[in-house]
Amino acid sequence: MTERTCLSIILAAGEGTRMKSALPKVLHAIAGLPMVAHVVRAAAAAGAGDIAIVAGRGAEAVRKAVTPFAPQAEAFVQAERLGTAHAVLAARAAIERGYDDILVLFGDTPLVSGEALRAAREKLAEGAAVTVIGFRPPNPTGYGRLIEKDGVLVAIREERDCSDEERKIGFCNAGLMAIAGREALRLLDAVGNANAKGEFYLTDIVEIARASGLRAVATEAPFENVLGINNRAELAEAEAIWQKNRRHRAMLDGVTLVAPETVFFSFDTEIGADTVVEPNVVFGPGVRVAANAVIHAFSHLEGATVGEDCQVGPYARLRPGADLREKAKVGNFCEVKKAVIDIGAKVNHLTYIGDAFVGSKANIGAGTITCNYDGYNKFITEIGAGAFIGSNSSLVAPVRIGDGAYVASGSVITAEVPEDALAFGRARQTTLPGRGKQLREQQAAAAAAAKAKAG
Ligand code: UD1
Ligand code: CA
Repeated sequence: MTERTCLSIILAAGEGTRMKSALPKVLHAIAGLPMVAHVVRAAAAAGAGDIAIVAGRGAEAVRKAVTPFAPQAEAFVQAERLGTAHAVLAARAAIERGYDDILVLFGDTPLVSGEALRAAREKLAEGAAVTVIGFRPPNPTGYGRLIEKDGVLVAIREERDCSDEERKIGFCNAGLMAIAGREALRLLDAVGNANAKGEFYLTDIVEIARASGLRAVATEAPFENVLGINNRAELAEAEAIWQKNRRHRAMLDGVTLVAPETVFFSFDTEIGADTVVEPNVVFGPGVRVAANAVIHAFSHLEGATVGEDCQVGPYARLRPGADLREKAKVGNFCEVKKAVIDIGAKVNHLTYIGDAFVGSKANIGAGTITCNYDGYNKFITEIGAGAFIGSNSSLVAPVRIGDGAYVASGSVITAEVPEDALAFGRARQTTLPGRGKQLREQQAAAAAAAKAKAG
């Protein structure tokens, strides 16, 4: 089947206003990725080499959002919402190029799987002209019903056009179809709009195909995979399903999730085997964690790389460009941004490391801050291998601390500290023997005098 060519047409026009959003519906994200991009990924997984997106409002924004996943994606505009068949025909120019298979997908049905689409294409390879993906929703109201006879699909009837008998059918149209490329234009052009809504229904191609002696069939997908999103409550429902599946996959891949339902992944999170993720951890986009690491509770990671045997958190924040090499530790209430924490280095408590390089086995004391920003520009802090930064130090970038150097606690370091040097960047302590007692006696005498005067 791999040699069959495939175009996927993703319908993303004519959406309602139930998202109550300035953003086109299909650009709302699940696991950090716009819905429509999830659909593009599924289409690609099912072997669709070309992608056509039919959008109304914000067509260009929609095309841009899918570009990273499908640089070849073309955008077509359906200016008027005249129905699903009319929407597919907005991509006529793409269909005319000639494909073996055409997959018609909905941009607001983001959890569709590559396997379900492959199964639908498989039926075309076996000779069907149309495959419709069906499902059995808990409540079929509002969906088109699949009318089958002797294992073949004879029609799809929209709810409003159903007879009472047809309305009792539980097997429904998920909306997604595979159409034989050589028949597609003829079938679509034959669709009329004489129905309850006055729209050109894509679903009519089933009867049109049958009438010309072609075969239509239905496949079945789980409800969870063909859920359509119309409002933010359904968006959250889809997110929950996606997260549940992703957690399951992580665990089967050898990752320990202590409380799986409290861990949130992004579409592109990568985690190695034997890594432990404690409760309440959030992975934003662009995170790679190697094997055997521990991500302690309440940590937030985004755009970060965590090497083997690293420890992160509890309560750590790794921002984009954080790069923890093997056995590095970033502890509680630490923030790391655009910085390498080299092999075995420790940043354990209450620290900000940004725009920096921390050498291997360096130890960064509690409360250390890299002062990387002057309000206009960012500057780099370099800390050498094995260096020791005393607690509560400010390292004012640009600045370099050499290998093996020490910085005394409470220092403000503004100039280079050479290798193996000890730097004090604070006033020296002055101690006056007996002066404390003297001070106390003076204050006591003053208080007694004031009291006598008042009494
Ligand atoms: C459609 C199906 C129905 C199925 C249901 C599943 C048809 C005629 N009906 O109904 O059988 O059970 O989906 O959710 O296909 N769209 C456009 N341009 C248009 C009209 C729609 O791009 O002119 C897009 C929408 O953005 C949406 C999709 O097509 O992504 C489905 O359209 P919608 O109006 O939601 O169809 P339903 O009435 O739900
Ligand atoms: Ca719908």
